Amino acid sequence: AKLDTGPKPLLGRKVIVTSGPTHEPIDPVRYIANRSSGKQGHAIAAALAKLGADVMLISGPVTIADPAGVTVLRVESARDMLAAVEAQLPADIAVMVAAVADWRVAASADQKIKKQPGEAPAPLALTENPDILKTVGHHAQRPRLVVGFAAETENVETNGRAKLERKGADMIVANDVSPENGVMGGDRNRVNIISADGIDVWPDLAKDDVAERLAALIAARFAG
Ligand code: CTP
Ligand code: CA
Repeated sequence: AKLDTGPKPLLGRKVIVTSGPTHEPIDPVRYIANRSSGKQGHAIAAALAKLGADVMLISGPVTIADPAGVTVLRVESARDMLAAVEAQLPADIAVMVAAVADWRVAASADQKIKKQPGEAPAPLALTENPDILKTVGHHAQRPRLVVGFAAETENVETNGRAKLERKGADMIVANDVSPENGVMGGDRNRVNIISADGIDVWPDLAKDDVAERLAALIAARFAG
């Protein structure tokens, strides 16, 4: 491996990163989930590690490889992800990139639900999942810097700003995930950085480049 001699502004800092989707069981063989490859979150975890951070990557089910230099904790559901995140507090910085399922099945079945030939399927009753970012943003052990994402298909700035406020975050990375942009599952991303200072529109970049720029920005904010 190439020797990494770059600057280490986050040396000794503990950073929690969430990534990937969550899976919410319907029964032992079926689940509901969000579209998410984990590429952006994993790239951010790797970029923060390159800056010297001690990174705990809490990942939902993904098929991509574990990034170099980080500790990976694997979870399935939103509730598992919240428990794993809270177990890692206190931390210096939290970056919540995961596409958490907003709802879970209210009463998942212990046994596989069987088709009843000729009968309409029973409707799935859903209930809201805990909001991990919002919990961390208002936590008694709140990290000094809390960064969230906002996945939007319209009104990116307005919706991103509302999330900054509602979730108690210092920064929101808002992206337009409309299908024509190919962000979910793709290798590129176009993001807007929203904070109390205003909005900064970044150009279309490879997800790895978004990750490097974001890690540098996080290090600068943390220092400042
Ligand atoms: N998030 C979370 N826990 C949830 C839902 C979202 O931690 N249960 C986090 C995501 O990781 C992201 C941010 O909150 O950092 C915004 O997620 P997003 O889905 O864009 O916003 P929501 O608040 O869920 O609102 P909606 O999906 O209705 O737009
Ligand atoms: Ca959501």
